Amino acid sequence: MTDANAHTDGDRGIDIDRETAPSNGRVPLAAPEISPTAIDHVQSVLTEGQLADGPPVRRFEDEFAAFCGTDRAVATSNGTTALVAALEAIGIDDGDAVITSPFSFVASANAIRLAGGVPVFADIDPETYAIDPAAVAEIVTDRDDVVGLMPVHLYGLPADMPALLDIAADHDLFVVEDACQAHGASIDRTRVGAFGDAACFSFYPTKNMTTGEGGMVTTNRDDVADGVARYVNHGRGETGTGSYDHIELGHNHRMTSLAATIGRIQLDRLPSMNAARREHAAAYDEAFAPLPIETPTEPDGRRHVYHQYTIRATDREALAATLDDHGVDTGVYYETPIHRQPAYESVSTAATQLPAAEQAADTVLSVPVHPELSDRERRTVIDAVRDQYK
Ligand SMILES: Cc1ncc(COP(=O)(O)O)c(C=O)c1O
Repeated sequence: MTDANAHTDGDRGIDIDRETAPSNGRVPLAAPEISPTAIDHVQSVLTEGQLADGPPVRRFEDEFAAFCGTDRAVATSNGTTALVAALEAIGIDDGDAVITSPFSFVASANAIRLAGGVPVFADIDPETYAIDPAAVAEIVTDRDDVVGLMPVHLYGLPADMPALLDIAADHDLFVVEDACQAHGASIDRTRVGAFGDAACFSFYPTKNMTTGEGGMVTTNRDDVADGVARYVNHGRGETGTGSYDHIELGHNHRMTSLAATIGRIQLDRLPSMNAARREHAAAYDEAFAPLPIETPTEPDGRRHVYHQYTIRATDREALAATLDDHGVDTGVYYETPIHRQPAYESVSTAATQLPAAEQAADTVLSVPVHPELSDRERRTVIDAVRDQYK
C-alpha cells in the first residue's frame, strides 16, 4: 500500500499509448502527466523571467472561476492555504465551531484550527463517505457555537450539498466546500466550487489536475475573494497611498506564474482526464459487481470524478497483498480518521464516537484509476481483484 500523501514516483512522462503502455513496471496509483504544450508554455515563462505572481496567475484565476461557474477565483500556494485563507476571509472568531468530516485528509480539520476555530466532527454517510446531513443537523441542534460547515467532497464525489445548504440557511452558517479532491464534479450540472460561500481546491500532483503545488479559492462573494487575495499576500491592499500598504495581517501563500501556466493547460485537459477516470470506473463497476466487495456509489444527479476509485472489503489486507503480488499499487485513504490522530488528542471535540468513519477507515482500499492508466494496466487491476475471490 502507498502512503496516502507521498509524492508519486509514477510520473512516466508523456504520450503513453493506452493499449501498449509498458506492463513490466508496477501499476501506480497516480501518474501526473504534464503535456508538451504545458512544458512549452513554462519554457516561455522561464525565458520571459516572470516567475512569481504575475499575469498568468490572474488568467488562471479567471479561467478557473469560469470553469466552476463562480464570479471569482483566487489562487494560493496549495489546498491547505486555500482553506485557511477562505476561513480567514469569511472571518471566524477564536473558538468558533466549524463542522467537518472526520474521514478526510487531515488538512481539512487542520485548516479550521489554523484559522482559530474548533473542528467538530459529524459522522459520514457510509455510502458517499461525506458528512451525513442528519448527523450535522443533530450537532447544530445540540450546540450553539457552530458558525460554519466544511463538507469534503471525498474521492471526487460531491457531498449532499442541497441538504447541507438547507441546514446552513436555517442556522445562519457559512459553508466552505473542501473540493480539493473533486475538480469538475457536479450536482445537477452545477459544479462543486459554486455551492458554498467559498470552495477550495488543491493542485497537488496526485489530484485530478495539478500545478505541482497549488490551490484555488472560488467564490461568488467579492468580500471573500478580496479577503483571500489580501491574506495570501501579507494583507496588502489598495488604500490609495502606495503599493506597500498592508492593511491587515497575512501570509505569503501566493501561487507562482510557473504553477499557473501549468494549471491553465491542465484545466483545458481536465474534462478529458475526468472522462478517462470515469471510463476506468465504469469498467471496474462492471467487473467487480459479482464480487463480495462494495464499489463506489454515484447518487442521482451527482457526477463523480473518481479522484480515487475506492472499494470496501472486509478482507482488505489480503486483497491489498494479492494486488501487490500482481504489481498493482493500492492506497488506504484514510487508515486513521482525523479524530483519532495523535495531533487531535488535545482537541476535545475529537473524543466522539463516529462509527461510520471508523468502519470506513477499516475497510476502504483505493485502486489505480488515473487517466494515464493503459488498457492493459486496467486489465491487470481487474484480474488481480478477481484472483482474490476466485
Ligand atoms: C480533502 C483534502 N483537503 C485538503 C487538502 C490539502 O491540499 P494540499 O495538499 O494542496 O495542501 C487535500 C490534499 O491532499 C485533500 O485531499
